[in-house]
Amino acid sequence: MSERKVCVVSGSSSGIGAATVKRFAQEGWDVVINYSRQAAPAEAVAEECRALGAQVLLVKADVSQDADARRLADETRACFGRADVLVNNAGTTKFVALKNLDGLDAEDFQRIYAVNVIGAFQLSRAFVPLLQQQAGAGIVNISSVASMMGRGSSIAYMASKGAVNAMTVGLARALGPQIRVNAIAPGLVASSWLQQGMGPERYAAHLKAWTDTAALGEPLTPEDVADAAWWLGAGAAKTTGEVLLLDAGFRITKG
Ligand SMILES: NC(=O)c1ccc[n+]([C@@H]2O[C@H](COP(=O)([O-])OP(=O)(O)OC[C@H]3O[C@@H](n4cnc5c(N)ncnc54)[C@H](OP(=O)(O)O)[C@@H]3O)[C@@H](O)[C@H]2O)c1
Repeated sequence: MSERKVCVVSGSSSGIGAATVKRFAQEGWDVVINYSRQAAPAEAVAEECRALGAQVLLVKADVSQDADARRLADETRACFGRADVLVNNAGTTKFVALKNLDGLDAEDFQRIYAVNVIGAFQLSRAFVPLLQQQAGAGIVNISSVASMMGRGSSIAYMASKGAVNAMTVGLARALGPQIRVNAIAPGLVASSWLQQGMGPERYAAHLKAWTDTAALGEPLTPEDVADAAWWLGAGAAKTTGEVLLLDAGFRITKG
């Protein structure tokens, strides 16, 4: 078994996931990087982590497929013999205006749930045997403010992240005392996810509305979310079943 601690992050070839593996690498951990489609961005993130001194395992796996989730855990065991923190970050959506109820069908819900909810469940289940061997192990689920505020890319996405919050509490009860399970609900993160999904004009308007409203007057960065994932994953010894709203004061608004 590796002496260094190991963090596994699903969907870590870009955005929040990439920032999270780099944060754990900076802290002296080894990392498992996962993606489902494009290898090149994942390999670039792996190089950055190696430059920070981490050993890296890179695994192509679609978390919505249980066989892939189990293979990810098996490859982690074969490479490192341990896992200390799992961050369920891989996510997907469909951008549909709130009032356009006909813009979503059952298949949209099923595709989004398959990754955001079922994928996080399957990966958690696959990693429990490894995580429960490590003192202070943690699972961190990346949710969204969309789960709480009726804002976000679509109602199917909001519902999926609400399910992630409920699952976080259920898993925290099921897996304690060995494994802590928490979630982060970030607000607007300045990453390609929103820019590509909304297009440049809608994104600019959305960003302005956000910064005009949020008490701290700024969007989040992927590094802000990685910071919270580091704390909830590696620290926060007495915190479990918590959904941390990380919104730069958007909910409380400016005074
Ligand atoms: N950006 C925001 O404003 C925001 C706000 C709140 C919450 N979030 C949440 O934060 C998480 C990451 O978002 P992001 O902004 O960093 O997006 P991103 O840059 O698009 O990253 C998504 C990552 O997930 C991977 N992925 C997608 N489907 C996958 C699957 N089935 N299996 C494995 N990996 C998969 C992608 O790689 P491949 O394409 O190669 O698979 C990519 O690495 C998501 O859960 C999202 O809901 C984002």
